[in-house]
Formats: sequence, C-alpha cells, structure tokens
Amino acid sequence: MAASSSGISAKQDLISQLDKIGALAEAELQSSGNSEAIEKVRVGFLGKKGKLSEVLRGLKDVDPKDRPAVGAKANEWKARLEGIIESRKSEFGSQELLSKIQSERIDISLPSREQHRGGLHPLTQTTLEIVRAFARLGFDVTTGPEIDTEFLTFDAINIPKDHPARDMQDTFFVGPGLVLRTHTSPVQMRTLLAKKWPVRILAPGAVYRCDNDATHSPMFHQIEGLWVDRGVKMSDLRGVLDFFAKEIFGSKTKVRMRPSYFPFVEPGAEIDVSCFRCVKTIDSHCPVCKGSGWVEILGAGMVHPHLFEVAGYDPAEVTGFAFGLGIERITMLLYQIPDLRLMFQGDMRFLKQFS
Ligand code: FA5
Repeated sequence: MAASSSGISAKQDLISQLDKIGALAEAELQSSGNSEAIEKVRVGFLGKKGKLSEVLRGLKDVDPKDRPAVGAKANEWKARLEGIIESRKSEFGSQELLSKIQSERIDISLPSREQHRGGLHPLTQTTLEIVRAFARLGFDVTTGPEIDTEFLTFDAINIPKDHPARDMQDTFFVGPGLVLRTHTSPVQMRTLLAKKWPVRILAPGAVYRCDNDATHSPMFHQIEGLWVDRGVKMSDLRGVLDFFAKEIFGSKTKVRMRPSYFPFVEPGAEIDVSCFRCVKTIDSHCPVCKGSGWVEILGAGMVHPHLFEVAGYDPAEVTGFAFGLGIERITMLLYQIPDLRLMFQGDMRFLKQFS
C-alpha cells in the first residue's frame, strides 16, 4: 500500500481503491444474469470478508482527521451498490417467479391418481361367508384362547398322551402344561364345560402347528362347529354340511362323507364336496380336484361320549356333532391360490385382487 508519512496520500490511495472496486462491483452487478449471481457479487464486495472491508482495513494508516472522508466514500459506494443490488434483484425476482409459475403450472386436465381403497383380507372374507352361512342355521360365534392348556387341547378331548400330534415336532409348547392350540377343538370342551346346552356354536380363530410348506403354515385358521342337544343325529350333521357346501361352493354342490378317525368324535368322517370347477364333466387336469371330481374340505363326526363324561353330561341324555375346517384350505380352493404363504406376505399385488 502506498501510504506516506503525511497520511494525505494514504487517504487518497484508499479513496482511489474504493472507487476502483466500487466501479468493478457496479460493472459486475450490471452484467449479472440472475439473482444468484447478484448475491455472489454482494458477498464478494460488501460481505464481512468482502473487498470493501479489505480496503477499509487500511484506515488505521490514515490520519484520524482524514478518516471521515474515507468512511464517507466507503458509505457512498456501499449505498450505491446496495441500491443497484436491490433493483436488480427485484427485476430478476419477478422474472424468476414468472418462469417458476410457468414451469410449475398444474395441469388440471391430467387424470387423478388412483385412490387406494382398503379391502378385507381373503381369509376374513371366507370367514365371514362361512359365519354368515351357519348363522342362517342359528349358529352363534364364540372364541377361545390361542394359548390353551394341554389338558383342554388334548386330554379332555380324548387325545391320548402318546398321540403323535402331541410331539414336539408337531406342537408348540409354551410353558408347563400350556400349548399354542393346534386346532380349535378345545373350544368344544370349553363350551361343554360352560354347561349351557343346547348349543350351536361356531368358533373361528388362529391355530399353530410345526408345519411349513406351500399348503401348510405354522399359523393358520380353523373354524370349529358344535351342535349339542337332545337327539342330534348324524343325519343332522349331513343336512347342515349340505346346506353349508351349497352356500359356499354353489347350489349344485354335493357332499360326500368318508369314514375317518378323530379321537374326539365317534363315528368320524372326512367331508368332501363335489368339485365346483368340474360342474358338468370331470376334467382330468382340473387344478382343484386333480381329476377326482371331489375335494376334501373338513373333518367331522358325532361328539365322543368321553367329552360328555369329562364335562359332566349324561351321554344318554344329550348328543351332538362337531366339525372343523381350515379357512386357508377353503380360501385356496375358492380362489385357486397355489401357495398358502401368499396370504401372509402382505403383498398389495396379491391382496388387491380380492378387494
Ligand atoms: C383337526 O384339526 C380337527 N380338530 C378337525 C375336527 C374338528 C374334526 C371336529 C372332527 C371334529 P385336521 O388336523 O385334519 O383336523 O385339520 C383340519 C384342517 O386344517 C385340514 O383339513 C386343513 O385344511 C387345515 N390344516 C391343517 N394343518 C394345516 C396347516 N399347517 N396349514 C394350513 N391349514 C392346515
């Protein structure tokens, strides 16, 4: 810096530096093309570390009586540059706002985005359909706990200690004498123990088994049915299931009973329905019945006298029938779903097909 001992040239030197950088800033402001460039020039010249402050650092070398003149010059440039900045910014501001409005214009002619409507899960839909069908015959819905005693799940309903279903490989044991129920049949015993017969109940709910493949899940759902009264016969069971099958699978559906064994019923039966896909002629490649013309849907039978004895009933006075079905199995049949696990993955592409 060319400051002399007299201080006069230091003052002139600073004033001429201020004029130089002021003129330079003015030229840069005039040639700036947008408000961002203007802001850059403002910071470069008027900011804390800008060129103007840099020049004013030389004030200490100026004679104190000359300092106001230098300060006045600096303020003059500051005010002038700020004026230019303001007017250029407002000029660009309105241009930029205009182009933003134009580029971001809302096209109201575009079709609206699809609204996703919720729907009932296919398992819920099947459950409701089944409940509705049985409600027409006077069945009430009841429930039981998913963690139940080993006694009610097995012993009380005549499943002996050495039955394979009670193996660790089949049942989830959760504590001493407690299991995740493997079927809804313990609700039969709970209902009988409540001793409010006659009863006609339906008990839907989750059950658990150590199973896992395309047709078996570790958690799945069953519906238990129980009708206990004086004089209930196997033919009543047949009539009820006939009605149910026609309601769910179509009015032309036939029911077939095959002898089978379940420890809590005697006699016991597997219930098949005629294939609702091969209604006219049996298709040997049918994905539903595999060409047999029949589809197994549930297990059923007359309540075993052992259950009445445990619950304190006189088996000579009351009789009843019970049945149990897998909701996933019926849903898979109804909608021809190849893999039961699809129902538990929460995949919207799958679920949307049912809403
Ligand atoms: C029972 O569970 C008996 N409690 C049903 C019963 C009740 C019979 C009352 C007689 C009187 P089963 O083990 O067969 O029976 O199971 C019934 C249905 O549950 C099967 O037909 C099948 O559709 C379904 N199921 C069984 N295991 C699984 C599994 N891991 N995943 C999905 N569904 C299953």
